Amino acid sequence: MLIAVDGPAASGKGTIAKRLAAHFGLAHLDTGLLYRAVGLKTMGKETHAEFESMAIDAAMGLDTSTLDEEVLSTAEVGIAASRVAQIPEVRKALNRLQRKFMEQPSGAILDGRDIGSRICPQADVKLFITANPETRARRRTEQLLTRGLDVTYVEILKQIEKRDKDDRENPAGAFYQAADAHLLDTSKLSIEAAFQAALGIVERATG
Ligand code: C5P
Repeated sequence: MLIAVDGPAASGKGTIAKRLAAHFGLAHLDTGLLYRAVGLKTMGKETHAEFESMAIDAAMGLDTSTLDEEVLSTAEVGIAASRVAQIPEVRKALNRLQRKFMEQPSGAILDGRDIGSRICPQADVKLFITANPETRARRRTEQLLTRGLDVTYVEILKQIEKRDKDDRENPAGAFYQAADAHLLDTSKLSIEAAFQAALGIVERATG
């Protein structure tokens, strides 16, 4: 079984994908971490003449077994990820890794921005998880504060809105909901309710 989960930052897609993976015994890949790892490797070098080629090299040499979720989940790395995600050759290299991951014999679930639309259009089920920007900013702020990071709701909301816009307008691969994706708005749902709703969609879609 192949499941594609897409959605904007802090929509709940990562948590839902992880829980669906555990429930169905599927391998899970958070594809945002790939972009984040490349973003982290090139952070601070944005004005460098060789910025693009450094990002492409980082994407081509990326070792997915070394992704450290804790280090990669900061707001700054999210912004750096969005920047390198605009480089077509970076996307090409990371797309190859994602397509390889899909070949797991156990089946796979991938979450990101373009899984249902470009990476895995043949997925058995496609979910598009969303929530309003204010709810997403509140969730992300709480998450980062719990981890001891010094952030405010206002700055996180601003970053989320900018990242939404950059991802929607990304010339190297605009972010949109696949026509055959099931929409799930988690704005008013707890994590448990959102997971149960997603599980219901997958079960109905796969019989
Ligand atoms: O999902 P997450 O917030 O970790 O993603 C970080 C950034 O990586 C996104 O804002 C987006 O620019 C980029 N991304 C992408 N395509 C994906 C996953 C992430 O362009 N499949």
